[in-house]
Order: sequence, then structure tokens, then C-alpha cells
Amino acid sequence: MRPDVLESLVSLAKRRGFIFQSSEIYGGTGSVWDYGPLGVELKNNVKARWWNAMVREREDVEGLDAAILMHPRVWEASGHVSGFSDPLVDCKACKARFRADKLADAQCARKPSKKPGEHSDCQLTEPRQFNLMFKTFMGPVEDSAAVVYLRPETAQGIFVNFLNVQQATRQKVPFGIAQIGKAFRNEITPGNFTFRTREFEQMEMQYFVEPGTDMEHFERWKQARLDWHLGLGLDRDRLEFHQHTEKELAHYARAAFDINFDFGGTLGFQEIEGVHNRSDFDLSQHQQFSSKKLEYVDQAANKRYLPYVIETSVGADRVTLAILVNALREEAVPGEQEGRTVLGFHPVLAPIKAGIFPLTKKDGQPEMAERLAAALRRRFNVFYDEAGAIGRRYRRQDEAGTPFGITIDGDSTANDDVTIRFRDDMGQIRVSTDRVVDVLTRYLEADHPRAEARLVG
Ligand code: GAP
Repeated sequence: MRPDVLESLVSLAKRRGFIFQSSEIYGGTGSVWDYGPLGVELKNNVKARWWNAMVREREDVEGLDAAILMHPRVWEASGHVSGFSDPLVDCKACKARFRADKLADAQCARKPSKKPGEHSDCQLTEPRQFNLMFKTFMGPVEDSAAVVYLRPETAQGIFVNFLNVQQATRQKVPFGIAQIGKAFRNEITPGNFTFRTREFEQMEMQYFVEPGTDMEHFERWKQARLDWHLGLGLDRDRLEFHQHTEKELAHYARAAFDINFDFGGTLGFQEIEGVHNRSDFDLSQHQQFSSKKLEYVDQAANKRYLPYVIETSVGADRVTLAILVNALREEAVPGEQEGRTVLGFHPVLAPIKAGIFPLTKKDGQPEMAERLAAALRRRFNVFYDEAGAIGRRYRRQDEAGTPFGITIDGDSTANDDVTIRFRDDMGQIRVSTDRVVDVLTRYLEADHPRAEARLVG
């Protein structure tokens, strides 16, 4: 079993400004988190990487940004009003609420610590279904006719826009629609930091295909999505496919695989992405509930049909957490008493690309470093730091996951060159100042930056 790093990650994330608890000064909001200065850069980089791979680099996938609030009938058609629920039991003695299907893993809040039902005065009710959608009201009147939901997934915004996008872009099946956006679920057993939260972001893509060709597209997307995670630098042996069993499979799904990541500790392997063959369930439900034809007309073949959908659905927060867990390491430093904490992100994902350090605050070094920082800022997020011993400045950036440290010393001002230090192996190269942008760009564009680490210089 890999060690559980979540506890040290929570404290590092707060200390360095990756992730804070929402409304912390009021005691926090349950399972809702805020991204700080480094966290927002990291998550934005993850989302940009997904958008590039799924939309920009493909001719057959279009982007979309649908609204969070949708017509309430959408959620009847999708099955969320009737079926998106967990079975719950209440304890009348302590007023706590538990998932009926997870009682064996649950803990009663009272002391001594026991499972629900094990205290002599526990009074558990029969299970009741509890819908996970957040409800609110549209307009000034708070009655049942004004109920709207915060979307529990982004996918439905894509289904209801299927023909709008197809007709506007003149795409031919097979093609996909992708979007990134917030989703909300009133989870009963949230937790494990940002793993399961009540407000989160999804990156979903629906690929519309001709029935009969669906399994071939499904297999292709399954592999493409695994490759995407590997490209983020997630370790191969921390990733696995989990095939949904008959029992797990949604009634409309023809096939479903999760991509699981090993978060370590007791959490272990958990889903970060789902790849599903959803058949024509969603389009046919919306066709029926809206009474609008949603068929695709294949003029060349002179036929019309409801496409099948291959869905890839990944949580931006969950994959960001996986990246943090994968990147965190504590290690000894040869010749030094104190070890170091490193977030070894793929350079493309790193919130700050380079730290810029004048060795001393004199002899023109700060001025040269400021000039270099200003030039680099046009291309990369860089951080200028002249405070404290150089070793400490390096350590601060190791902990922030900054892949490059650029040091300006006494020779730099004379020779117009700098030292680039690499976060992962602490190796250094000397390059002339006018080559810094080029060197950094080559690393950022490398698919396997560590393997190529010594190629440039
Ligand atoms: N449209 C399909 C769908 O929503 P899902 O398996 O319920 O499928 C897809 O969610 C992904 O969204 C998950 O693999 C996970 O990464 C993310 N996700 C779902 N619920 C989440 C939650 N409560 N907190 C954080 N991420 C969540």
C-alpha cells in the first residue's frame, strides 16, 4: 500500500496557497474548497491541457459553455429527478444521517467510537431515498413551479445542444462536443480533501457516433483518455482501468470503464474519469420529453438516426488532486541535514515556471534579474525572489513545484549569462541570457521532460 499523503498535502496546500477551505473564518463550509494563487494556476493549466487535447487539436470536437441553470424538464428526461439519489438512514438518537449502503464503513460521531447502530440507544430509521441535486428557485416566487436545479453534471447541456452545434458547425457524425464547467452534488459522504466535494468542475466530452460503430469508438477513446493522464505525468503504475460489472452498469450503458488512480493509504485506487458508452439513451429521452426531433440526417447515405454517445467525463478537481498526490515527495539532500519537500509537476502544469534569483542584492544583479523577469513574464508565469539565502529560495520554489530556478550571480553581469537549476535533480546548466526563453520553451514542450532534461543546455 502506498503511503497516505493526504494529511501532509492538506497542510502544504494551505501553507503555499494551493487550496483553502471555503469560508474558513466562519468555521468552513462542508466539502467546498477554494483555490489559492498557486492552485488556480495549477487547475487552469490542467483545464487548458484538456481543452487543447480535446478541442483545439482535433477537427472533430467542438467546444461549448452551457449554462448551469437549465429547464427543470431536462432533469426529468435525464433521470436525475427520479433516480439521482442515495439511500439514507437517520439516527433519531443523535440526529446523524448515514448512507444506508455504506453503514459498514461509517462512524457514529459519539464516543466511544462505534459504527451506526452499535450504541445501545441508536435508533436507525428505515432507508429513504435522498436526491443529490441542489434546488433553488427561479424568479421572485418560491413555489414548486419555480424550482430549478444546480446541474449535477455538465453532460446534459451538451445533449440538449447537440443539433444546435451540429447545424452551426456542419460537423458530420462522428463528432464530439466538449465543455468544462461547474457541477453540484449534495453528497452525503463527501471528504478526502477535494476528492469528493459538493461543488466541483467537470471536463466532459460527448462523442456522437452511428449505432453499430460505437464499441470501436469506445475502445479508441478509452485508450486516448488513459494516454492523456500519462501525458500529465501521472505514474503508469498508479493508473488502472476498472470495468463496470453488470451490477455497476447504468441501465442505459452498453459499456463503462473508469480510469482509477492510486491516491495511496486507505483511499487507494479511485475513479478519476469515466468512459461510457451511453447508447442513444440521452438523445431519445430528450427527444421524447421535449417533443423535438433530435435525429441526425446523413444526407450522403440517405438515412436518419439518433446517434449513440461515447462519453468521457473527468473531474478537474479530482485530477488536480491526483496530480498533487503524484507529485509530492519528501527527500534527503546529499550533504545537507535538512531534506526537501518537492512537488515534481510536469513543467507544463507547474503554477510557476521559473523562480528568478539575484544571488546578492548588489552589483547590478537585482536590476539584471528584474529585466530578465520582465522579459520572461510575457511568456511564462515567473516569480522574482531576492529574499534570504539562495538555498532557502530554491527550497521554497521546490515546494511550489517550480521546475526551473534562474540565478544571476557576479559572473552574470559581466558575461550576460545565468544558471538554470533543475528542480528534479538539482543539476545546473549555464546559458546566455538570450537563450533562456528558448531553453524553457523546449522543456515545456517536451512530452517527457525528465528524460530530455540533459538534452538542452
Ligand atoms: N456525466 C457523467 C458523470 O457525471 P460521474 O462518474 O458521476 O459521471 C464523472 O462523474 C467525474 O466527475 C468523476 O470521475 C469525478 O472525477 C468527477 N466527480 C463526480 N462527482 C464528484 C464529486 N462529488 N467531487 C469531485 N469530483 C467529482
